[in-house]
Amino acid sequence: MSLGTAGWQLRPASAADAADLEALEQKLFPQDAWSLEMILSEITHRTRSYWVATADDRVIGYAGVMVVAETADVQNIAVVPDYEGQGIGTALLSRLHQVAVERGAREVLLEVRVDNERAQRLYRRFGYADLAVRPRYYPGGVDALIMRAELAPPRKPTTTDLTSHMDEAREH
Ligand SMILES: CC(C)(COP(=O)(O)OP(=O)(O)OC[C@H]1O[C@@H](n2cnc3c(N)ncnc32)[C@H](O)[C@@H]1OP(=O)(O)O)[C@@H](O)C(=O)NCCC(=O)NCCS
Repeated sequence: MSLGTAGWQLRPASAADAADLEALEQKLFPQDAWSLEMILSEITHRTRSYWVATADDRVIGYAGVMVVAETADVQNIAVVPDYEGQGIGTALLSRLHQVAVERGAREVLLEVRVDNERAQRLYRRFGYADLAVRPRYYPGGVDALIMRAELAPPRKPTTTDLTSHMDEAREH
């Protein structure tokens, strides 16, 4: 579990969070909210990793990633309006990237409404670039922008690291 700066925390989501996530889906994505069944199947699927942000034991944000082979997909990310702009979206996305790298992904993809500038700003800060447009993907005929970022593999010690470490050891 990690503690945020303003009294919120991140923890892995469990099936017990599904009802809270359903309520948030209805509130934040009224046009295409996920059903309880879909949320449960997402949270419990072995290729997924879902995280929630909580404040006073209340779920105030959530996000999930699918990792299959070397490609990760951000399935969803959302923060309740009262808690936006405090770094929770950033913390959730960082955690998804961390999990994706740990599971061997080398790239991460996502879809975002072309008119969702706030979310796109968050993604661009993480190195996402535009890949393609999927026309009329969302209800109401709104296009989806597909974005992609490369993930840095976990850093392994290089020969130079080992040599300089040996040099340091020699100096002592
Ligand atoms: C997109 C979304 C997840 C971002 O979440 P968030 O918690 O507000 O994100 P952050 O707080 O990490 O970053 C948002 C902004 O706050 C700023 N910020 C972050 N921490 C901050 C802090 N401690 N103090 C002040 N500002 C801060 C960031 O710099 C960022 O600024 P920018 O928008 O100009 O780039 C959220 O707006 C949301 O849920 N939107 C509705 C659902 C949605 O659209 N989801 C995406 C579907 S693809």
